Amino acid sequence: MVYGEWLHAPGKPTVLIYGHFDTQPVDPLELWKHPPFDPVLKGGRIYARGASDDKGNLFSAIVAVEALLKTEESLPVNVKFFFEGQEEIGSPQLAKLLAENRDHFSCDMVISADGLQWAPDQPSLELGLKGLCALQIDVKGPSGDLHSGMCGGVIQNPIHALARIIDSMRSSEGHILVEGFYDDVVELTEEDRHFMAQVPYNESEYMATMGVNALFGEPGYTTRERNWARPTLEVNGIWGGFQGEGDKTVIPAEAHAKITCRLVSDQQPATVAAAVATHVKKVTPPGVQVVIQQSDHGAYPYLMPMEHPGNVAAFSVLKKLYGKDPYYTRSGGSIPVCHYFLKELGAYTVGLAFSLDDEHLHAPNEFLRLESLNRGQKGFVMLLKELARKGC
Ligand code: BES
Ligand code: MN
Ligand code: MN
Repeated sequence: MVYGEWLHAPGKPTVLIYGHFDTQPVDPLELWKHPPFDPVLKGGRIYARGASDDKGNLFSAIVAVEALLKTEESLPVNVKFFFEGQEEIGSPQLAKLLAENRDHFSCDMVISADGLQWAPDQPSLELGLKGLCALQIDVKGPSGDLHSGMCGGVIQNPIHALARIIDSMRSSEGHILVEGFYDDVVELTEEDRHFMAQVPYNESEYMATMGVNALFGEPGYTTRERNWARPTLEVNGIWGGFQGEGDKTVIPAEAHAKITCRLVSDQQPATVAAAVATHVKKVTPPGVQVVIQQSDHGAYPYLMPMEHPGNVAAFSVLKKLYGKDPYYTRSGGSIPVCHYFLKELGAYTVGLAFSLDDEHLHAPNEFLRLESLNRGQKGFVMLLKELARKGC
């Protein structure tokens, strides 16, 4: 991680500004129109891996502070920059780093320069992030690939076994059937549901954008509630057996799947991963063996109180920037360190980031609108000034 500080505003709040400069892998590389790490400016956009998630936002925060120092020769509040390079792999080293250096990183609040706005002309304040846990299931059958005729009908096929294991995890409607999965989930209050329902939602438009002809999800919840505030379990990849052109008559020796769960308060990554592992062992059919690899760094879910002075300040800044009240939203995404800022430093994180959801985050041809860079710079200057006036 990269750290920097300016602490010459005695009596004023100390604000830690967070962002990340690492990115997701670039693959599939062949779908990029320009090399992912040679930024290209075109049509008011900058195309590059990480432009939107999250280097652009991080850069806005830097040039905001630079502009203040150049024009006013000081900052309205004390500032600590905390930029990391491991966010996209779950920030495995930050919990320890924060726990061992509490005084060094102490602050009144955190501003996260990682996240989204609702639309180019509509601001939003993100009040919730999901947690995450990840597993890989390895199913092993016969000691080697077998002739599917000579051995057919008598040997358990690892791919069929894996398909059964995976299918047993969710009902056809998307309710998760893993025992204990929902145990620690805090149910939504009427107020939570009310705020989510305030955000305009057009189902047919949403389906068209996503390219699907029907939506899917847990009974008893709206699409927004499912996406923003309910835990999920998704298979991210599955492989095994013959993948080439044409046919190959074989019973494969093994099959594999990668699974992640998105978590909500108060679910814990290790507990949920253990529940999934127990489920897998329980439903594994005879004739195959499973090995479960549990990734040791999950993310905890994170919720931010709406009335926190940092959110009140961000609300008024966004209102001035866009001329509109921001929506209160949540995200299905995760920023692992937010939980540790609260746990280790006692500081809540307010989101101030200007990416938009059509900017191909994590995908080929990621881009950022240049106007968002500019708005971000203004936004950071305004928020630091607002926090100096009102405190936090
Ligand atoms: N910036 C995203 C998370 C995000 C997306 C926050 C949209 C708010 C709105 C972050 O970089 C991300 O992608 N996180 C990963 C974390 C994981 C790999 C531990 C994610 O959510 O998949
Ligand atoms: Mn990010
Ligand atoms: Mn990301």
